[in-house]
Amino acid sequence: MTTSAARKYDFADLNVNAKNIAEIGTEKTGEVLLKFLAEELAIDDWGNVGLLDIGCGVRFTQTLLNRDIKIGRYCGVDVKEDIIQALKSEVPDSNFDFHYWHVFNNLYNKAGEKFSTIEKLPTDVSDMRYACLISVFTHLNGPDSNDMLRILRASLPKGSKILFSIFIDDDIEADYIEVFPQNPSRTVKHKSAAFEKLLTNNDWKVLKFNKARPECYINDHFVCEAM
Ligand SMILES: C[S@@+](CC[C@H](N)C(=O)[O-])C[C@H]1O[C@@H](n2cnc3c(N)ncnc32)[C@H](O)[C@@H]1O
Repeated sequence: MTTSAARKYDFADLNVNAKNIAEIGTEKTGEVLLKFLAEELAIDDWGNVGLLDIGCGVRFTQTLLNRDIKIGRYCGVDVKEDIIQALKSEVPDSNFDFHYWHVFNNLYNKAGEKFSTIEKLPTDVSDMRYACLISVFTHLNGPDSNDMLRILRASLPKGSKILFSIFIDDDIEADYIEVFPQNPSRTVKHKSAAFEKLLTNNDWKVLKFNKARPECYINDHFVCEAM
């Protein structure tokens, strides 16, 4: 998977981004998104901080390494075992760590454990101040979103900030809908009032909500702080 040039990684065969994003380019969209995250989370320099990336895929790892963006710690968690195995075996850097999470997702990990039985993330992140979930809640229904928010809050310290993308649609009647009911989790849309209740119930304070910014390759998104 690594190309012949020193320190050039190509995880294209493991890329899980939507086709249009993959076509624009892993590193191009990755670099724009990392810049966007830094602005939204008020981070001056990734070199001084750690980032927990839940549902990491390969994009940020490839971007950080190939574009030589220094980061204090990068902790990637994903339910796709092949992705985590490849990242673990290909990336030797001590400030990068990767963890397989054996949790159910109808699209990505049908064999995983039920969300409701899990208390914490699969690794200690109690020192992490920043976390992101890009295109993860877009695949989580209401109960799964509630469990994810509960687990994140139980794992991250007070004052930590999370940024995550989501599809918000206030024209729907229910709290959330499966856009393709025959293929659950492929695309989920949430009603803002219902989702904000989940955030509050799980001790997350909303700092910002913004609509999608296609130029930054991000859907609707929240920035929240752990209470
Ligand atoms: C559309 S991809 C986005 C990957 C990456 N965040 C990015 O923006 O390039 C969604 C990722 O979330 C992972 N995922 C889905 N449900 C998850 C869960 N409950 N916990 C952790 N990862 C999850 C999938 O395995 C997949 O790698």
